Amino acid sequence: MSVQTAKIRTGLRPAGPSDVKGMARLVDLYARQGLLLPRSPADMLRRLDQFLVIEEAGGVQAMGSLWPMDGDLAEIRTVAVAPDAQGRGLGHELVDELVDMGLQRGFSRLFCLTREPGFFTTCGFVRVGIEQFPQKIWKDCCLCARRERCDEIAMLYTGGILP
Ligand SMILES: CC(C)(COP(=O)(O)OP(=O)(O)OC[C@H]1O[C@@H](n2cnc3c(N)ncnc32)[C@H](O)[C@@H]1OP(=O)(O)O)[C@@H](O)C(=O)NCCC(=O)NCCS
Repeated sequence: MSVQTAKIRTGLRPAGPSDVKGMARLVDLYARQGLLLPRSPADMLRRLDQFLVIEEAGGVQAMGSLWPMDGDLAEIRTVAVAPDAQGRGLGHELVDELVDMGLQRGFSRLFCLTREPGFFTTCGFVRVGIEQFPQKIWKDCCLCARRERCDEIAMLYTGGILP
């Protein structure tokens, strides 16, 4: 059971093909600020089953994805809330549901890499060393232009309990 137990809000649901345009707009916005890694619409469409969105007023206001890594390990990534929708709990609700989705899909270790550790702490994650996830280092970090000066913080979901 994840930290937040409230049930799914209206508008939180699996992403569909018609959401991709709005998702791409959010990702582009934050990728330009260096807060998210870029992801192409084609890539997101191909992996739609990994994404959840929150729709409000006919548009995607928040999104996030669960990325299977290896064995029991999955990464929560591409978490974004539209600027004018922030601070209302949408991000927390989305991460909480991604955690539930990951556990239901059989992943017992859920992690993220982030520059927003304060936010993920409120979602039940704790700071850990990236060396706990060699699969991530081999698959993604090795290819990253910022690998020598990475400023992202690795965090593991523990429901708020220290590992
Ligand atoms: C980070 C982000 C997803 C947070 O979404 P949000 O909907 O504004 O967050 P919420 O309203 O659900 O906040 C949940 C809690 O986190 C806290 N929080 C939110 N952003 C925070 C931050 N930057 N630092 C510290 N705490 C933060 C809130 O105060 C709240 O705490 P509470 O539960 O004690 O009240 C959003 O700011 C965003 O999209 N940022 C740009 C993209 C990004 O950086 N994504 C993360 C990449 S891994």
